[in-house]
Amino acid sequence: MSGLLNGKVAVVTGGISGIGLASAERFLAEGAKVIVADIRDDEGRRTAELLGENAAFVHADVTTEASIEDLVARTVNRFGRLDVFFNNAGTTGSSASVTDLTEEGFNATISVDTSSVVFGHKHAARQFIRQGGGGSIITTASVAGLQGGWSSVSYSTAKHAVIGTIRHAAMELSPHGIRTNAIAPGVIMTPLIAKAFGVPAEQGGELARFLDDELGARQALGRYGTVNDIANAALFLASDLSSYISGTVIPVDGGISSYTLATSDTDIAAAAAAFVQR
Ligand SMILES: NC(=O)c1ccc[n+]([C@@H]2O[C@H](COP(=O)([O-])OP(=O)(O)OC[C@H]3O[C@@H](n4cnc5c(N)ncnc54)[C@H](O)[C@@H]3O)[C@@H](O)[C@H]2O)c1
Repeated sequence: MSGLLNGKVAVVTGGISGIGLASAERFLAEGAKVIVADIRDDEGRRTAELLGENAAFVHADVTTEASIEDLVARTVNRFGRLDVFFNNAGTTGSSASVTDLTEEGFNATISVDTSSVVFGHKHAARQFIRQGGGGSIITTASVAGLQGGWSSVSYSTAKHAVIGTIRHAAMELSPHGIRTNAIAPGVIMTPLIAKAFGVPAEQGGELARFLDDELGARQALGRYGTVNDIANAALFLASDLSSYISGTVIPVDGGISSYTLATSDTDIAAAAAAFVQR
């Protein structure tokens, strides 16, 4: 470890599970002080204890602006400043199709996955401006924010929207030295994925190994992504290594969003060969 975040204070929402927890661990290993924020209090407190004295848990429900504002205030109260705000908490939300979607399901998804990011920007940026010297905002988007067809209409809309937020906010916030960027993970085996497929979170690891064995070879680079793949990108965006990067989305998906999964040249060649042999 090279102390890339020495002296910095970071907040990670959804920081006690999956991508958020791996990122919190990575930030701590690089010298940061880290607030992990989540709605699950008992697990949050236990996790913060395991993470050590440079970490603390704060209860925050990112669906309410007041809770995000309070999270920033409590972070500054505890560790004196804020340098990195990672909008990571999220949900797969409503899985309903376009024709079955309810207003309630759609709004609930937008609330966790999109409003949280908008108000995360607002209150992190206000703190960065108050203390001076800029800061880094990171958001976990998704390949479902770059392409349709990965998930539901609610999730895809929510994740496309957060990319709009970071692109616009980059313009408004850059005069203050504030950078904002998103990471677009491909499929990463976390409790969120287990939940999406109706498998209890405690069997998430087992499901991940099973799917990797069954389907891994068909993924980009021959495997699924891991939480550490995303944590590494988050570390880059949190650190000064990315000091001239803002308003971008980095896909961390093995390259899969750069090409179509539908009909490849290989499929067409095989079909054409079958046609010739008829
Ligand atoms: N796992 C994937 O394949 C994948 C792919 C693309 C994007 N993502 C995104 O990555 C992010 C992290 O997901 P993960 O896979 O690590 O899932 P996860 O379920 O392991 O972690 C999500 C965390 O967010 C917390 N959370 C949920 N609602 C909250 C709220 N209202 N306020 C505060 N915290 C809340 C949960 O308690 C949980 O700890 C999400 O934004 C998700 O959409 C995940």
